[in-house]
Amino acid sequence: MSGDGGEVARAEQAPAPQPLRGRRVCLGVSGSISAYKSVEAARRLEDAGAIVDVALTPSAARFIPPLTFRSLVKGEVAVDLWDPSAPAEQHVAMGRRADAMLVAPASATTIAKLAQGIGDNPVTLTALASSAPLVVAPAMDAVMFAQPSVQANLELLKARGAFIAGPGIGRLASGGQGLGRLLEPVELAAAVRSAIGRSVGELRGRHIIVTAGGTREPIDPVRFVGNRSSGKMGVAVAEAARDQGAAVTLITTQGRPQGGYGIVVREVETALEMQAEIGKAARGAHALVMAAAVADYRPAEASESKLKKQDAEQEGMTLELVENPDVVASIDAAKLLKVGFAAETDDLIRNAQAKVAKKGLAFIVANDVSQSDAGFQVETNRVVMLDANGGVERLPLMHKYDVGWAILDRLRAHRGWA
Ligand code: CTP
Repeated sequence: MSGDGGEVARAEQAPAPQPLRGRRVCLGVSGSISAYKSVEAARRLEDAGAIVDVALTPSAARFIPPLTFRSLVKGEVAVDLWDPSAPAEQHVAMGRRADAMLVAPASATTIAKLAQGIGDNPVTLTALASSAPLVVAPAMDAVMFAQPSVQANLELLKARGAFIAGPGIGRLASGGQGLGRLLEPVELAAAVRSAIGRSVGELRGRHIIVTAGGTREPIDPVRFVGNRSSGKMGVAVAEAARDQGAAVTLITTQGRPQGGYGIVVREVETALEMQAEIGKAARGAHALVMAAAVADYRPAEASESKLKKQDAEQEGMTLELVENPDVVASIDAAKLLKVGFAAETDDLIRNAQAKVAKKGLAFIVANDVSQSDAGFQVETNRVVMLDANGGVERLPLMHKYDVGWAILDRLRAHRGWA
């Protein structure tokens, strides 16, 4: 078997994560050209394991034929309150069994009806019949969105516990750019996961700090000393913590992740900036999961202007490096449990175990980065969790999201968990 074929076969052995398995989501669609995105959102929610019921307003049904949703989702599709062939009291059943209701797109009119408790179509009536967390994703022209009436209605919904997802800034159907674009399907699905976590997740009321990506230590304005970390592992831990209802601060060198709804993101470049951001977030936090690959050394001086190639007589160049602080070891806050990562190429267990006590960790997650299906850049990982008492737990090849979930389970079971 070729190397590539072998990798694909192994990666396929790790089942896709199902963060919404066993959940029922009601998707309410109102009239907006952006309703096409709700089709993709429904698919993403079901890919994540949920069963999706769909309710359409009469205007939504003009943009998207109900047949599209009927062909796509495992749940029911409610279009007409007076349809004699629909199950009796369909809106009540759909509202009651929902673990979350997502209204996307939410037009100005639908937002007003939700705020005022008007139930005159399948979407607003189902929302009234549900006590599940409500996610409202506005989509409209920027001037409409800025109207005090729309803002007041959104404030009212927020004050009653609804999650307002978006809108984003971008090209609008009404022309031009502005604030009013429906969020992308990946963010809509993330908002549902976040809302369910906040209502029933095991980490409600907890604050988890996660670091991700490799630090970049500047040589000059265009060059840096860095490493191959993609940040995927840290993002996966942050998503898993968000889905379990935690308040999550993600300190990353890789920018805001897609689908990061509900995660507070702090962007940094260097080890020292990362250390400072963790310090700011650490008070009152319950855990620090240090998935970032921190450079051990940084250039002694970062040149303010771009370094030029040396004279021909001078061969090569020497870069002077100074040691960075051990960031995870340096952080100390009451109640804070620390989890480290160890990416090793040799003598995995012994090297990783030595770091647990040295860095004051609750446990360390070790992986052999010389394997092609685990470690940097890929979606899967095969890790061993090692604690201070010599405990060793080997996990099979898993998606990084599921590894994240396993780390959080282990944290919650730790005796130091406050
Ligand atoms: N770490 C850190 N600060 C550093 C170096 C590492 O906080 N300056 C953290 C990493 O984020 C990781 C853990 O320590 O969670 C282990 O990182 P690793 O690079 O494996 O350990 P080092 O102490 O750098 O040891 P070595 O590179 O010699 O293996």
